[in-house]
Amino acid sequence: MRPATRHLAQLDAVRNRVAALVSYDAGRVSPASARAKRRHLLSLFQERSHSVLVESGTFLGGTVKFFLPHAERIVTVEIDDQLHRWAAMRFADEPKVEVLHGDALTHIPRAVATAESAPLIWLDGHYSGHGTGQGAELEPAPSLLGLIAEVGPPAGTTLLVDDVRLFGAHRDFPTLHMLLSAAFDAFPAAQMNVELDSLVIRLPA
Ligand SMILES: C[S@@+](CC[C@H](N)C(=O)[O-])C[C@H]1O[C@@H](n2cnc3c(N)ncnc32)[C@H](O)[C@@H]1O
Repeated sequence: MRPATRHLAQLDAVRNRVAALVSYDAGRVSPASARAKRRHLLSLFQERSHSVLVESGTFLGGTVKFFLPHAERIVTVEIDDQLHRWAAMRFADEPKVEVLHGDALTHIPRAVATAESAPLIWLDGHYSGHGTGQGAELEPAPSLLGLIAEVGPPAGTTLLVDDVRLFGAHRDFPTLHMLLSAAFDAFPAAQMNVELDSLVIRLPA
């Protein structure tokens, strides 16, 4: 294949993935825009004096890119081979970024256990339609909360579970009750809020 044709085919593959992601909802409520979600993440990041971002579900690396000027360290995990390759290439020259390949259920608790300071943890790694990957669980956030609690995240850690609108509304997602009971079991002393389509869990400082 000629380089130009290969480039166009890759562009098409990216477009298809973005289209699949945008249309992946319960058919009822449209999600807040990616830009609004990133601005919300950044305001929490700054308010709570974080310097480390841990993300499950890299996708094309949009949130990583957005955080480059703000974070001292970014660890992101992607399960899909192709998406991981693209993100690893995209951030190859950024020493502060680590793009891990595999299931968030394995990598995120380890990343939290070895974080240099209390991280902001963005749990956004779940199957999101054609062209995205899937791990042992289609939406691993409830299990991840328990696994993260087991490694003992530092005081002042902030966790967000994205796409709260889909819990109990999308046929493949756990119920909202499962998410909330996992959150309260894992972090009974935390402040919990739903903000802009995310469950926000603030561990006391
Ligand atoms: C909604 S997208 C992430 C969007 C990205 N966080 C952003 O802010 O731009 C979900 C991504 O999670 C990935 N994914 C699905 N299950 C995963 C898992 N168990 N571990 C890691 N990544 C996963 C999918 O392949 C997809 O790229």
